[in-house]
Amino acid sequence: MPETVTFTDPTGQRKPIALETFVVPGDLPDVAQRTGKIPEPDPHYVDLGMLYKLAALEKVRRAGVTDTPLHVALRGHMGTGKDHDLEQFAALLRLPYYRIPLTGEVRDITLIGSVKLYGDGRGGTESRWEDGDITRALRGPALISLSELNAAGAETLFALHGLLDRYQALDLPTGETVHLRTDTRVFGTMNPTDLRDYAGTQTLNKAFADRWVIWEKRFPDAAQIESMLVRRYPKLKAPFVTTIARLAAEVNESFTSRDARTRVGTPMSLRTVLDRIPAGLWMYSDDADPLRRAWEEFVVSHIDAFDEDHYETVWAAVARRGPDGPPFSR
Ligand SMILES: Nc1ncnc2c1ncn2[C@@H]1O[C@H](COP(=O)(O)OP(=O)(O)OP(=O)(O)O)[C@@H](O)[C@H]1O
Ligand SMILES: [Mg+2]
Repeated sequence: MPETVTFTDPTGQRKPIALETFVVPGDLPDVAQRTGKIPEPDPHYVDLGMLYKLAALEKVRRAGVTDTPLHVALRGHMGTGKDHDLEQFAALLRLPYYRIPLTGEVRDITLIGSVKLYGDGRGGTESRWEDGDITRALRGPALISLSELNAAGAETLFALHGLLDRYQALDLPTGETVHLRTDTRVFGTMNPTDLRDYAGTQTLNKAFADRWVIWEKRFPDAAQIESMLVRRYPKLKAPFVTTIARLAAEVNESFTSRDARTRVGTPMSLRTVLDRIPAGLWMYSDDADPLRRAWEEFVVSHIDAFDEDHYETVWAAVARRGPDGPPFSR
């Protein structure tokens, strides 16, 4: 039975959106495996507006306003939370989540499928079709997240053109046509290529790009980072929360700066902010300056040598010395 989930606008400006959840039909051959792929809601997840925006689009889709389904690709720098948004959207709508990376190595046979040889038990072999990653996902309700869209080679992308446009289906070499179900959603994620290079990525092929609604995912600002830190680490003392949030926001602002002489070359991802720095604070809890120590061991050690001066400049401007420890209250 579908349930109803309500998405609220974090800015409080728009009305809440209620959506029915998806249901995995009990008669699918892979029902148990598929149901197991429904993600759990993350209690530490903070909706900065993306879930609400995805829900608003979902509502439009369900209203049947457009003829061709709208597939959304989230474009943003490393560790801005693109995959996490899609995973949490799947969790709330109870959709099995299939994350399929499109690296340069991935070939269309991996995605679509291929004929494999099997022993026939009589000393010979027989050939059988075996679904690839996307085909398998398309056989039931799914939220398919094609990650690193712009890392895939052109031939791989061409194989997906029909699926993503009005045709809404994948033609298999076996003659079978696999249709995009009404309870399947295709999303993508990618890093921007304009500003910095991410090894192995390229600008998206224009015809492929035209099959997506591309939404920009920006770096969170200091207040948003604070809310994520507080949610995840309720015992982290306020001066630490504000200083870490400012350090990250300043580094990332410098990363997006136009001035090539002063900008940093590596942003501070949410993984650094939410996982590595707090781990460092635990480790160096009794140090004279726990944040400085965590910064040296878990942030600066991550960046290229030429970036160290830039990071130091930000540190000096924001902190100079970290707040007094211990960082976590009892
Ligand atoms: N809204 C959020 N609330 C709380 N934590 C978040 C949020 N968004 C992301 N995170 C955390 O930040 C980290 C990075 O998120 P994620 O892996 O989704 O980034 P990404 O944009 O897909 O990065 P990449 O481009 O490197 O693949 C994860 O550890 C995730 O749990
Ligand atoms: Mg990702």
